[in-house]
Amino acid sequence: MSMHSHIIGLGAYLPERILTNADLERVVDTSDEWIRERTGIRQRHIIAKEEATSDMAAQAASRALADANIDIGDIDALIVATTTPDMIFPATATILQAKLGGKDFPAWDIQAVCSGFIYGLAQADCMIRAGMFRRVLLVGAEAMSRIIDWRDRSTCVLFGDGAGAVVIEGREQEGGVIGSILHADGSYRDLLKAEHPHEHATPDAFHTEGIDFSTDAAGIAAIEMKGNEVFRVAVTKLGEVVVEILRKYGFHSRDVDWLVPHQANIRIIRATARKLGMSMDRVAQTVQYHGNTSSASVPLALNELYRKGCLEPGQLVLLEAFAGGFAWGANLIRWSKEKKG
Ligand code: COA
Repeated sequence: MSMHSHIIGLGAYLPERILTNADLERVVDTSDEWIRERTGIRQRHIIAKEEATSDMAAQAASRALADANIDIGDIDALIVATTTPDMIFPATATILQAKLGGKDFPAWDIQAVCSGFIYGLAQADCMIRAGMFRRVLLVGAEAMSRIIDWRDRSTCVLFGDGAGAVVIEGREQEGGVIGSILHADGSYRDLLKAEHPHEHATPDAFHTEGIDFSTDAAGIAAIEMKGNEVFRVAVTKLGEVVVEILRKYGFHSRDVDWLVPHQANIRIIRATARKLGMSMDRVAQTVQYHGNTSSASVPLALNELYRKGCLEPGQLVLLEAFAGGFAWGANLIRWSKEKKG
C-alpha cells in the first residue's frame, strides 16, 4: 500500500497590533480608498518589538499540534517556510524546534518567498510518500514589517506579519495531497526583491586597494518591487498553473470545491477565480484582514476556511501562490480532515 499525506492539524497566529489603512495615511501619501480599491487590504498585523518570526511560528505550530491532538514528540520533521528568518543562521526551524521543546528530528528552512508554503507542502508530501517521515510539521511564518521601507507607499501598504502551520501525516488511506506543481524563473529576479542588509559591512580596515568591500547603503533590507509588472506576470502564471495542475491530475475546474490562493491582492485572486470560472464564494479571501503575509498567507487562509467549518472530507481544495524569483506553484488536496465544529 502506498502512503498519502493527510493534513491532520491546522493552526494560525496573527500579532496583536493592527495597522489600519487610516494609520498608514499618517505615514505616507496614501488613502484608505486607494489601498482598498487596488488591493482589497483594510488592515495588517504587525509583530511586536520583542517578538521574532520563530515566536509567531511557535504560536501557530502549537495550535496545529493541539488541533491534531498530538505533541511535538510525535513529529518526525519540521520545515519552516520563511523569507524573514530570525537570523541568517541557524535556521528558524531549529529555533522553533527548541521553543516547542522538540529534539533530534531534522528541522530546516526553505526560502521560496510567498510560495514557501506551496513548495514546503510539495516537499513534505514527497518525503512522506518516500517513507522518510511519518509526521511533518510545516509552518509558514513572516515578519514582513521588518523588511519594509516605511517611506515607500508603493510597498508599505501591501504587507503584514503572521504565521500558519499544518501537521501532515502519512497514512495508507486514500486522499490527502494529490500532487503539486512548482515553477521558478530567475530571469524575473529584479522585479521583486530585498537585498541583503548591510548593517555589518566590512570595516574600513579591510578595504584593499582595487577591491571595494564597502557598501553604500547601510541599513535594513527593504522590499523593492515593480508592482504593475509583477501584477501582470502573477495573473498570467497563476492562471496557467491552476489549469496545469487540474489537467495533470485529471480534474476539471468545476470539480474544485475551494480555491485557496496566496493572499497578495484581491484583484489577482479574482483573476485566478475568473480563469477557473469559480464564483468568489468558493474562494478563500483573507487578504483584507492581514495583507500579504508571504509564506504565511496560504496556511492562514486555509486555517480560516477550516475554522469556519467550510472544509469537509471529500472536497477538492486547490492551493496556489506566486512569489519573488519568480517562484510559483500549486497543490491539489482531497480534503480528509473532519469538519470543524
Ligand atoms: N497610495 C496611493 N497611490 C499610490 C500608492 C499608494 N499606496 N502606491 C502607488 N501609488 C500610485 C503610483 O505612484 C501611481 O501613480 P502615478 O500614476 O501618478 O505614477 C499610481 O498609484 C498607479 O500605480 P501602479 O503601480 O500602476 O498601480 P497598480 O494598479 O498597479 O497597483 C499595486 C499597484 C502594487 C497594488 C499592484 O501593482 C500590485 O498589487 N502588484 C502586485 C504586487 C504583489 O502582489 N506583489 C507580491 C507578489 S507575491
